[in-house]
Amino acid sequence: MRILGIESSCDETAAAVVQDGRQVLSNVIATSLEEHKLYGGVVPEIASRRHAESISGVVRQALADANCDMSGIDAIAVTYAPGLIGALLVGVNFAKGLSMATNTPLVPVHHLRSHVAANYITGDLQPPFLCLVVSGGHSHIVAVEDYTTYKVLGKTRDDAAGEALDKAGRTLGLPYPGGISIDKIAPTGDENAFAFPHPRLDTPYDFSFSGLKTAVINTVHRMEQKGETLPVADLAASFQKGVTDCLVEKLEKAATDYGYTSIALAGGVSANSRLRRETDRLCRQKGWQLHLPALKYCGDNGAMVGAQGY
Ligand code: KG4
Ligand code: ZN
Repeated sequence: MRILGIESSCDETAAAVVQDGRQVLSNVIATSLEEHKLYGGVVPEIASRRHAESISGVVRQALADANCDMSGIDAIAVTYAPGLIGALLVGVNFAKGLSMATNTPLVPVHHLRSHVAANYITGDLQPPFLCLVVSGGHSHIVAVEDYTTYKVLGKTRDDAAGEALDKAGRTLGLPYPGGISIDKIAPTGDENAFAFPHPRLDTPYDFSFSGLKTAVINTVHRMEQKGETLPVADLAASFQKGVTDCLVEKLEKAATDYGYTSIALAGGVSANSRLRRETDRLCRQKGWQLHLPALKYCGDNGAMVGAQGY
């Protein structure tokens, strides 16, 4: 079965053709990231306009790269939520039109489920497993019981991990998106230079990153007021340690309490090298099996939508 996956929830206009849920025949991504850099974050109206301009070309290219046309497509899967409403509307309406015009079934797909499904195209992972889904807008610990049954065990009370990293990056004067910039610069800094607060919550699998974010902002302001030179790499490394330690600690607790030995990461932040390293260390120590999406499938893409659509 061949599925055309379409994604437009944020700043990536993406389409892919996926066979039998796991084999990627094509994967095309156009991004408006460069334009958002000017503003230090995604501007929804700009994202929507770029989606509208790019989507037909991106879908056409995905079909061409897979060497097929719509007659070779069994279903269209499209991201319906969550995301920027204007951005989502472009993908959903394009998919609806294409579905009606070509008499092809339409499958609505949840964006976070797609991130989880990025693991299916990377390896031979099968449910049940426990997944840490960390993106720009969400931080969830999800028990994936089967391909369509999910239980959210914990989530962030405030900022998502990616959002916190992006805001910290901006405070440190690093290029947008801060998550990627912090990951790049952190290896040149001392991650123990600053001890940022480690939140204690009464719900065991939930996260909170707003205190950590405020702490880095306050530290930066204090140093600037004193005229001190900012140790950007040390601050970035320490902040990244703070965020990733919280994520790994809660993941360990949830896996232990619920008895999961198959663990996966998903979402844009799952590209983070320290998070991947520390989760790998944890899983080796515990004898758990770890599944990591390939780097090119961590961020938003159409292949993961095709996989989850299947
Ligand atoms: O999943 P995604 O592409 O879009 C959403 O669904 O939100 O995630 C984007 C987030 C951004 O916050 C970005 O800074 C973060 O993923 N990100 C990273 C890395 N690559 C992307 N965060 C830390 N380290 C990275 N290498
Ligand atoms: Zn995403």
